[in-house]
Amino acid sequence: MTDLLLLPGDGIGPEVTAQARRVAEAVAPDLSIAEALFGGCSFDAHGTPLTDEVLAAAKAARAVLMGAVGGGGGQWAGAPRDKRPEAGLLNLRAGMEVYANLRPALCFPALADASTLKRHLVEGLDLMIVRELTGGIYFGSPRFIEDLPGGGRRAVDTQVYTTAEIERVARVAFQLARGRRNLVHSAEKSNVMDSGLLWRQVVTDLHAREFPDVRLEHILADNAAMQIVRDPRQFDVLVTDNLFGDILADAAAMLTGSLGMLPSAALGDAGRPGLYEPIHGSAPDIAGQGVANPLASILSLEMAFRWSLGRPEAADRILAAVIRALDNGARTRDLGGALTTVQMGDAVLAAL
Ligand code: NAD
Ligand code: IPM
Ligand code: MN
Repeated sequence: MTDLLLLPGDGIGPEVTAQARRVAEAVAPDLSIAEALFGGCSFDAHGTPLTDEVLAAAKAARAVLMGAVGGGGGQWAGAPRDKRPEAGLLNLRAGMEVYANLRPALCFPALADASTLKRHLVEGLDLMIVRELTGGIYFGSPRFIEDLPGGGRRAVDTQVYTTAEIERVARVAFQLARGRRNLVHSAEKSNVMDSGLLWRQVVTDLHAREFPDVRLEHILADNAAMQIVRDPRQFDVLVTDNLFGDILADAAAMLTGSLGMLPSAALGDAGRPGLYEPIHGSAPDIAGQGVANPLASILSLEMAFRWSLGRPEAADRILAAVIRALDNGARTRDLGGALTTVQMGDAVLAAL
């Protein structure tokens, strides 16, 4: 049985995942690791970004570590929509039923000056975004682009949520908060969207029924975006839908110094394998240059050890090594330094 399935993907995906693999082999030499094609590279080889075999292997592994997929507006942009690398990623998330996406934004002390925000706003930041990952406008139907009789075209996407989908992701957020600072913000647009209205009602009911001990604040998603850059430390756990979560997490990433710092864990029901991935993409602008920051990938591996592989001590070692490497001054270009991807991997391994 495979413990860890690596899906390096496209662009900088293979570059950063290779460093996470070195770390995995160092902290857990007994771990069984497999690797497979996924994303644009799989499309080139097999005509689809996600083959049935790879999806089956992902569901059979204990954890999956993904790199990044996609070619920006360039490579694979002409592929049919359902064969695009990004479609493969959505199918992987849906196929693995990983509905709760944990995106922790931590400001490491050594990086408090690397953020575009002032040090006193981000120092000590520990924000957990819980993004719904297998529903909402990413998956709703109908979706299409049609030609209009009088000329021009019309595009439709559908935002859709059920009670059950909202409840299960909100439950994850409340449970996480209990182990943290006991505060959940729930972000939606209940002022304009019916799906937002239902979201607010379901979260309110669940809170009253199962989590009255946790503090709950409702916040409109646009205000949440503003508050994240105004005073990010007011948040503990922030739960929101698929699209808002995507956007708010990239904004929160900059509080940590770089998009290249933010890991994620996508979890389903207990006992199912988790999907771990940096929140950044394939970064076509720097792919192949060997300068990408591998820490988001290494920290995603850290989350895999903690949440799926049952080895919290290995996770603690990785986290401590990343902190020590940063304390020692290790910086890739995105953090204002000059280390290459491999040299950052070296720095973490040395700190281990
Ligand atoms: P991106 O995250 O790839 O890049 C945004 C910016 O951040 C770029 O300037 C890039 O160089 C920089 N950056 C990202 N990761 C970095 C790292 N580890 N180290 C240093 N700098 C880093 O977003 P984009 O350019 O909008 O998208 C590029 C492609 O990636 C698109 O095809 C998109 O669909 C895809 N994408 C995939 C994922 C994923 O696989 N999970 C996530 C986001 C975007
Ligand atoms: C992310 C990415 C993906 C998303 C894309 C590539 C499908 O932006 O993981 O944040 O929008 O979920
Ligand atoms: Mn994103």
